[in-house]
Amino acid sequence: MTLSTTGPTTGPTTGPRVVLVGPMGAGKSTVAGLLADRWGVEARDTDADIEAAEGRPISEIFVDSGEAHFRVREVAAVAEALSTHEGVLALGGGAVLDPATRALLAGRPVVFLKVGLSDAVKRVGLGSARPLLLGNVRGRIKALLDERTPVYESVATAVVETDGRTAAEVADAVVAALAGVIRG
Ligand code: S3P
Repeated sequence: MTLSTTGPTTGPTTGPRVVLVGPMGAGKSTVAGLLADRWGVEARDTDADIEAAEGRPISEIFVDSGEAHFRVREVAAVAEALSTHEGVLALGGGAVLDPATRALLAGRPVVFLKVGLSDAVKRVGLGSARPLLLGNVRGRIKALLDERTPVYESVATAVVETDGRTAAEVADAVVAALAGVIRG
């Protein structure tokens, strides 16, 4: 098991108890639900917030209005959730690409759920409806992992490996990481 922490957070004292970041297929929403149940708080997911605000699924937003429109919505949804939500927050896989979002994450408890290519493909499924994966799921996930891993690492206070683990095991590892437990 590999856990790493980079020390206590020093940012805002209110806001989500933990923010989960990472690529598609890392299990962010599932793990957010498990953590929320464990702590007796609400889980929130910015993808779901955007879908509710727009009244249509993300796949439709991308196709009909374009990715740029989605990203504008996403920046606003993340800012809103960070300032109002006290439970567990899962961000869409691309949210951290925005510099304003990265600035808002500074000093907060942010856990990067790390996943390798083969587990990500297994979890997402080759028939994924996710718009950024259309055409070549494996190739697209590989490109996104290569490009974004350094960005996830840059915003994370802790990194939790998810490969070969169940969502419950990942949730346990997040709790341990937040407690500052470092295991090699
Ligand atoms: C995206 C990830 C998706 C969703 C959108 C774009 C990305 O969220 O926000 O399809 O850029 O990686 P999940 O990571 O929850 O699947």
